[in-house]
Amino acid sequence: MYTALAAMVNFPEVQKKIQEEIQRVVGKDRLPGLEDRNKMPYSRAVELELYRYYTPIGAAGPRNTTQDCSYKGYSIPKGTKVIYNVWRVHHDESFWENPFTFDPTRFLDDNGDLLPPEDEKRQRLLTFGVGKRSCIGEKLARVRIFLGLTSILQNFDLAS
Ligand code: HEM
Repeated sequence: MYTALAAMVNFPEVQKKIQEEIQRVVGKDRLPGLEDRNKMPYSRAVELELYRYYTPIGAAGPRNTTQDCSYKGYSIPKGTKVIYNVWRVHHDESFWENPFTFDPTRFLDDNGDLLPPEDEKRQRLLTFGVGKRSCIGEKLARVRIFLGLTSILQNFDLAS
């Protein structure tokens, strides 16, 4: 949440677009709710870009290999602890266009709709880990960040 608020100060044009979406979908007479989420693709794209650009947990795991395996010529024996580099995946220049630019529209299609969860870009977001031991609090965290950020921006302009 702190990072999201700082990002709004750093990227005022993004803040303004979220506020326009809040105005259009929610208005001023009530706070944003979960029922608004599906109608606010830009705000949700900002949330995804926050996870990618800032990558709150840069290295996740560890995992133990359950069998001998090899990766890019390296032999990894069974029982080795492996840590995966989330920051690198989120800033891989061979996949992301301008990975060091904060650009929420990378998660929107040509119609301005949010890319579906199965889209490769969303599949490459590892903010909450992967597999059976991925973050159990992901849904709670994501909902809180959406509601917190939109409720604040509905009522305040953030500036340094
Ligand atoms: C933005 C907020 C959060 C981020 C970025 C985050 C990220 C992560 C990551 C990367 C992991 C390790 C996943 C892996 O090893 O593959 C993890 C595990 C975990 N997280 Fe979160 N988390 C967040 C919020 C929360 C919240 C709100 C809760 C609880 C209410 C929570 C509870 C847990 C638990 C219990 C695990 C261990 C799961 C397991 O080992 O099976 N997290 N989280």
